Amino acid sequence: MNAGVHICEVGPRDGLQNAHHLMPTEAKKAWIRALAAAGLKEIEVGSFVPPKLIPAMADTGEIVRDAVSIPGIKVVALAPNLKGFQRALEAGAHKVTFPVSASRKHSESNVRMTPEQMIEEVRRCAQFPHPGAEIEGAVSTAFGCTMQGEVPEDDVVRIAAALAEFCDCVALADTVGYANPAQIKRIFAKVRKAIGSKLEAAHLHNTRGLGLANALAAYEEGVRHFDSSMGGLGGCPFAPGASGNVITEDLVFMFESMGIKTGIDLEKLFLARKILIQGLPDEPIYGHTPDAGLPKGFRAAA
Ligand code: COA
Ligand code: ZN
Repeated sequence: MNAGVHICEVGPRDGLQNAHHLMPTEAKKAWIRALAAAGLKEIEVGSFVPPKLIPAMADTGEIVRDAVSIPGIKVVALAPNLKGFQRALEAGAHKVTFPVSASRKHSESNVRMTPEQMIEEVRRCAQFPHPGAEIEGAVSTAFGCTMQGEVPEDDVVRIAAALAEFCDCVALADTVGYANPAQIKRIFAKVRKAIGSKLEAAHLHNTRGLGLANALAAYEEGVRHFDSSMGGLGGCPFAPGASGNVITEDLVFMFESMGIKTGIDLEKLFLARKILIQGLPDEPIYGHTPDAGLPKGFRAAA
């Protein structure tokens, strides 16, 4: 187990969109810089959605413009439609991720489109000139949905295969934290069989405490790209019962202590956490590893 993993920090987007408090723009910029300084190479910094819908994302244009001036990081933004995609390109995002729900009910609640309509919207974006920008299709509610209940695995495979035709990469997202490790292995294997190496990230939520177990199961299934959120912030405001992502600090500790390189320095990551807490002082911030401290004699992966 010595192949490294790639972690995308999604706190500034998934985390802040569901926080109870607004983080000031300058604090967001400082947090993103501290994340980059800790070794995060990919950061999802915001979303281009109507500001009325998610006020916390109103400054995403300014945040992306600032983040792209940080050397060596891939700046990701979420977009739900062509208008959001165009705003992301104007700001200079390196990668744009689109949420395509496998659950029809969640899709209609989240983007006011059916999954089929949303696939067509992403296709329209892929056909729009976007030199130098990558497109990710993220299959949300891929492991179950609070509104629809069970999500048929065949729907997940079909949507992933449709997106793989015109996206650079495809992610599977456990939006509401329904997944278990056996299901993670089974569905990642099925989707990989259908689309091969276009399947990249596991986007996992820790709603039922299985975030790390699911991440490890995905790793064992060959997944090397993970989304996670500092302090365990996160959740979709349009999915009832959604809560935070797998916690970056704990995910990095798990991999590094197993000898799997993340490229992230845990001490510097804890400094970035301090900057997050300063910027969002009233928000509950989670994390077992930072709360307990690193074990005596801890060694990061060589
Ligand atoms: N950015 C900014 N404004 C946008 C926009 C975008 N990406 N997309 C649409 N708008 C504006 C339109 O111009 C229009 O403005 P107007 O009223 O001044 O004319 C208004 O928003 C409504 O546009 P419409 O196309 O009818 O959108 P809608 O109301 O049907 O909403 C989405 C559809 C996709 C824009 C909305 O559901 C959405 O943003 N969903 C994403 C939610 C989210 O972020 N979830 C969490 C992440 S998974
Ligand atoms: Zn999420």
